[in-house]
Amino acid sequence: MSSRHGVKRDRDDSPPSSRSSRARTSMSEEPEDTKVTVRQVAEHYSNRSNQTREEREASPIIHLKKLNNWIKSVLIHLYANRGDAVLDLGCGKGGDLIKWDKASISYYVGVDVAEGSIEDARNRYNGDTDHAQNRKAFSFPARLVCADCFEVPLDEALKDLPSFDVCSCQFALHYSWSTEERARQTLHNVTTMLLPGGMFIGTMPDANVIVRKLRDADGLEFGNSVYKIEFGDLYSEKKFMSPPFGIQYNFHLEDAVDCPEWLVPFSKFVALAEEYGLELVMKQNFHEFVNQYIQKTEFGELMRKLGALGDGTEGNNISDDEWEAAYIYLAFVFRSFAQNFSNPVLFAAVTVVFFILAG
Ligand SMILES: C[S@@+](CC[C@H](N)C(=O)[O-])C[C@H]1O[C@@H](n2cnc3c(N)ncnc32)[C@H](O)[C@@H]1O
Repeated sequence: MSSRHGVKRDRDDSPPSSRSSRARTSMSEEPEDTKVTVRQVAEHYSNRSNQTREEREASPIIHLKKLNNWIKSVLIHLYANRGDAVLDLGCGKGGDLIKWDKASISYYVGVDVAEGSIEDARNRYNGDTDHAQNRKAFSFPARLVCADCFEVPLDEALKDLPSFDVCSCQFALHYSWSTEERARQTLHNVTTMLLPGGMFIGTMPDANVIVRKLRDADGLEFGNSVYKIEFGDLYSEKKFMSPPFGIQYNFHLEDAVDCPEWLVPFSKFVALAEEYGLELVMKQNFHEFVNQYIQKTEFGELMRKLGALGDGTEGNNISDDEWEAAYIYLAFVFRSFAQNFSNPVLFAAVTVVFFILAG
């Protein structure tokens, strides 16, 4: 693991016990409605208690949850290397810790706005949960931070840390798209925390699919027995004008989510990411992703082991409604091409000069 912006720093050799810390969370410069929704989202996730194995297996979306885990495992397998340092934005209750352990990473930092989730992640890391009792200790040191990672400048809040090889943001990036400032702060955070050549991997709702489904629906809501998406009257014409930020809907996923979220128009996301030195490597809707990677022997085997699609017996298959809900999501991967992105204006100027000199 090397240092950020070429400044050599000592490796953080803290012992492999989690150090829960609180970064600056003041949102004093943000509009009141943003503060309210951030708090609402944080409280929603904080209040979700850890489920027992039996409760998880009884969930109406158990196959969808397993499918999501399979997709995250495949992404990690494809884009993380042994010894990588990993920054996990919106890490939740640490549900991906085991996946990162299997990838033999060297260091992990998880950030989440929900204090309860950070506490759960710390307990999971320390082996203090029911289902972690017999598990061996994690092989990497971890730091768990409670902060709004779409508002706080992480390069300042975590300036004692070296740079990261991988930044992961799983099922959380859509919470950053409420305003242009937050979307930009998020991309600034990703790019300044990543090493040049570092990977930014994630999953989030697929705005194209959501808009298509909205336009096909009779009213302003659509869904099935496991999910519901509801737009407000502001969108009664089903048209989305610029700027492409702050397009809010309410998302309900049975036994998982009930929160305001924001559309992330993918082409705008790619254009903005490029401004911050991140180039698109791949984007796939979950259906396409599953159809491609299930063909690969090792991932097919993992899918069977997890039982995400079911085992073919009556009542133990992914339901049509869960499979339709999976279609709401996409996976993305970007690579950082920035040398030093702490100042995007400077970077843009250097890029222009480079192209002029290159003729
Ligand atoms: C659907 S959960 C996903 C959790 C985890 N990444 C996973 O894949 O299991 C979304 C997470 O994003 C977090 N989140 C939402 N807004 C956030 C923000 N502004 N800053 C940090 N975390 C945020 C929530 O608290 C929640 O833990």
